Amino acid sequence: MAFAVPRGYVDLADLAAARGVPASKYTQGLGVLQMSVADADEDPVTLATEAARRCLQAAGRSPSEIGLCIVGTETAVDHSKPIASYLHGLLGLPSACRVFETKHACFGGTAGLLNAIDWLAAGSARGRCALIVCTDIARYSVGSAGEPTQGAGAVAMLISENPRLVELEPGITGCFSQDVHDFWRPLYRKDALVDGQFSVQCYLDALTGAYAEWQRLSESDEPLVRTCYHVPYGKMARKAHQRRCQLDGMSEEAAEKSFAEQVEPSLRVPSQVGNIYTGSLYLALLSLLYHQATELAGKRIGLFSYGSGCAAEFFAGRVLPTAAAQIAQSAVDSTLANRQRLAIPVYEELRRNDASADQRPSELPSSAKIGAALSQADRSPRFSGIDTQERRIYTVA
Ligand code: HMG
Repeated sequence: MAFAVPRGYVDLADLAAARGVPASKYTQGLGVLQMSVADADEDPVTLATEAARRCLQAAGRSPSEIGLCIVGTETAVDHSKPIASYLHGLLGLPSACRVFETKHACFGGTAGLLNAIDWLAAGSARGRCALIVCTDIARYSVGSAGEPTQGAGAVAMLISENPRLVELEPGITGCFSQDVHDFWRPLYRKDALVDGQFSVQCYLDALTGAYAEWQRLSESDEPLVRTCYHVPYGKMARKAHQRRCQLDGMSEEAAEKSFAEQVEPSLRVPSQVGNIYTGSLYLALLSLLYHQATELAGKRIGLFSYGSGCAAEFFAGRVLPTAAAQIAQSAVDSTLANRQRLAIPVYEELRRNDASADQRPSELPSSAKIGAALSQADRSPRFSGIDTQERRIYTVA
């Protein structure tokens, strides 16, 4: 696994000051410390490419070993051409490689992952790996209640018959779906629309249904020592764990203790990145493994994926003894430390420019130069605009 985030981030204490609310509302009330913000030359394609490049490098794999590439996103750049095709070109994947994009709000990456497991189980892999990339830019209107729950980033994962991080339990997933309007992104808008409090309820209802179904299907009584949840913001994962403890018949006090031990380590990286939609659950998994892979070796963990609309799935896996050495390659601290803190007026300018960024044929808005100092040493791909035939152009240093 590896992840990529944009060069810039907003500190939630700065945002709280600008919006006239106490910082504790965001940092404790929502459990978010920082949120990543994409510049005009960073988009879901560049983030996905960078995460995938780092993932292949960390695993010591070559693009020629990939037989399936699925990109989960709800920030598509085109109604037709999938981000997976851009990735195919930018990474140099083989022509004998199935590539496509999956969409179901934040569940899209999990749909890709479960598809990859079926691909392996069907014998289609023939020794090759699947590359699953979750990439999104989470956006709500400036000044709205959702604003402090934004974020941007991508997580890439290699799925193979010989895993090094987590061995998943194929075929045993608790599924829950229903038709709800809790969160939606109309095709003509960049900013999401959301019925915030209702979305929290839908998430918890889906967790209840998916967990019950997973318990019914699970063939093992072995306890889950940790659980990673979809993390739109840390407090949501806390509410989710409380709900699960309640379903397991635990007291409120025991649930709080259980949260600190079983969930908190998975929230450390997400609290510095914000909601990255499809990648949020997998960023939580990366955070958990980064902090605790050694002590978790051989232990069983749970995973809960939620996508608005809605679809949810609860499943489990076992942390492998090779996980600690492998996850140490994912450069978590340096990736976060190398970012630039954006002042609120700079973030707001980025947001104003972003509305028109896609339409600029050759020149990027001046705000794209915000990260210029950082970008000199950075070889990440860049979105450089749209040509005269309205094709998206990417450049790699
Ligand atoms: P809000 O208006 O900030 O809500 O919106 P609030 O006033 O209820 O405050 C939130 C919490 O802060 C509360 O705690 C307050 O008590 C606390 P809670 O009751 O929840 O435990 N609080 C304070 N704490 C400390 N010091 C203070 C203070 N003041 C208040 N001074 C909401 C919150 C999440 C609704 C909003 O941010 C939102 O709409 N976010 C976007 C939607 C969202 O993330 N929904 C989550 C579930 S749906 C999902 O996960 C899917 C999604 O990822 C999309 C997809 O699938 O594609 C979103």
